[in-house]
Amino acid sequence: MNVTSICCIGAGYVGGPTMAVIALKCPNIKVTVVDINEQRIAAWNHADLDQLPIYEPGLKEIVAETRGKNLFFSTDVEKAIEESQLIFMAVNTPTKTYGEGKGFAADLTFVEKCARQIAKVATSDKIVIEKSTLPVRTAEKIKEVLSSNTKGVHFEVLSNPEFLAEGTAIQDLFKSDRVLIGGDDTESGKAAVNALVSIYTNWIPKDKILTTNVWSSELSKLASNAMLAQRISSINSLSALCEKTGADIEEVSKAIGMDSRIGSKFLKASVGFGGSCFQKDILNLVYLCKHYGLEEVAEYWQQVVNINDYQKNRFARKIITGLNGTVNQKKVTLLGWAFKKDTNDSRESAAIYVADVLLEEGAELHVFDPMVKKARVHQDLTALWEARNESNKEIESKLNRCVVHKEYTQAIDSSFAAAILTEWDEFKSHDWNDIAEKMIQPAKVYDGRNVLELNKNINQYFIGK
Ligand code: NAD
Ligand code: UGA
Repeated sequence: MNVTSICCIGAGYVGGPTMAVIALKCPNIKVTVVDINEQRIAAWNHADLDQLPIYEPGLKEIVAETRGKNLFFSTDVEKAIEESQLIFMAVNTPTKTYGEGKGFAADLTFVEKCARQIAKVATSDKIVIEKSTLPVRTAEKIKEVLSSNTKGVHFEVLSNPEFLAEGTAIQDLFKSDRVLIGGDDTESGKAAVNALVSIYTNWIPKDKILTTNVWSSELSKLASNAMLAQRISSINSLSALCEKTGADIEEVSKAIGMDSRIGSKFLKASVGFGGSCFQKDILNLVYLCKHYGLEEVAEYWQQVVNINDYQKNRFARKIITGLNGTVNQKKVTLLGWAFKKDTNDSRESAAIYVADVLLEEGAELHVFDPMVKKARVHQDLTALWEARNESNKEIESKLNRCVVHKEYTQAIDSSFAAAILTEWDEFKSHDWNDIAEKMIQPAKVYDGRNVLELNKNINQYFIGK
């Protein structure tokens, strides 16, 4: 098959960057990214590239080069489906907040809606590609939905999970460790896999493209995230032990990581992992295990999430203990709100949970993040409290005690304690002696990312030291 036209449903952190890179690397393919969120599409089409809805290093340059040539952003989902040979589904799959599987299972509403729309609109054969992270055997359900098409259209469903990490998305897409494609072992299944392979071979070496059956591909994505998150919870669990024993987690991490069987990456102790995927995907794995009656396996993976909650809470409690057991009416500064550096994404960021504990204890919070705006910070907290059924009055009162600044200096002046929640490079280059002088003495700095230098003028806390 000669692929000339593709589309992606979902213009988010995956759909946007992934399609931008395909458009760049495949100038002969017309790439259309569609979304029901009009605001998001308008932002993708904004003349000022600094207004793109997603901040990702290197992304705006690619959009500048391809947009309007072979990369298009639109809200016309039906037209895009009709015109495309391959349709990627990169819609969100959050943890269910209702009904069966609440709090664990992936909510497949958006995926199912996409499949229904494809089934309704398609008048020619399509290859439908799962780009979203999905529970194993979702393709079965998608096929069932697609079979409601009455126009004699043939659909192939492939699994092509995305492994990019935010903040390094473009780099990850340019040089993927692997591209995983799961398809059926039938003539038409193999042809569909080959069509997708032909897109990636424009820039990915063939030996990095792994083809498997659909179920292996779907499960590998959940399992990869679970294994990555497990490393962080493992090192974070040891960080608590280091603090009790005088061992230094940075040294321990280095010593462990130098064993090539273990490797040094993803062993950085922190305030806890955040992001839209790790927690949701592990909980989904836990749910799947329970569904298949594998209680022990479910419990094993659940612990990875439990340790993460423990770590976030432990960090917040350190701050409270450090301020003589109370933060009530004290100015406390949070530096960083995003779940990691180089992204404007704050979904499930550790900062939200640390802020929650401190606000609950009466602190006057002052937040600064170079990429996350006030509205987002307040939305994140409101969503957490609403999910807990807190009253509007309570929510409003706590939001009034959470000031978000555009300059870090204002956030930090006259503060009792400053906590680093995101490892933004700029926090390392600040003059910490100067900052400390402007804080209430003795200045206390809680480094939730272990990024600062040791400074004898400041009362510093590092994770696991
Ligand atoms: P996102 O929320 O940023 O984007 C999803 C988009 O889909 C939203 O803009 C939403 O409006 C749109 N959408 C939902 N239903 C739609 C419909 N019926 N028609 C058109 N548009 C619709 O989500 P994301 O971070 O891009 O994640 C998407 C998927 O990719 C998830 O399954 C996630 O687990 C997975 N994933 C994410 C990352 C990451 O780093 N964010 C990495 C790998 C995989
Ligand atoms: C993660 C995976 O790394 C991607 O491969 C995957 O595609 C993606 O999830 C997904 O499915 O969404 P992402 O969440 O964007 O990517 O970012 P990571 O770099 O994995 O960081 C996740 C969290 O772990 C961040 O809060 C980060 O600060 C934290 N982390 C990471 C640590 O605390 N220590 C580490 O050593 C590494």
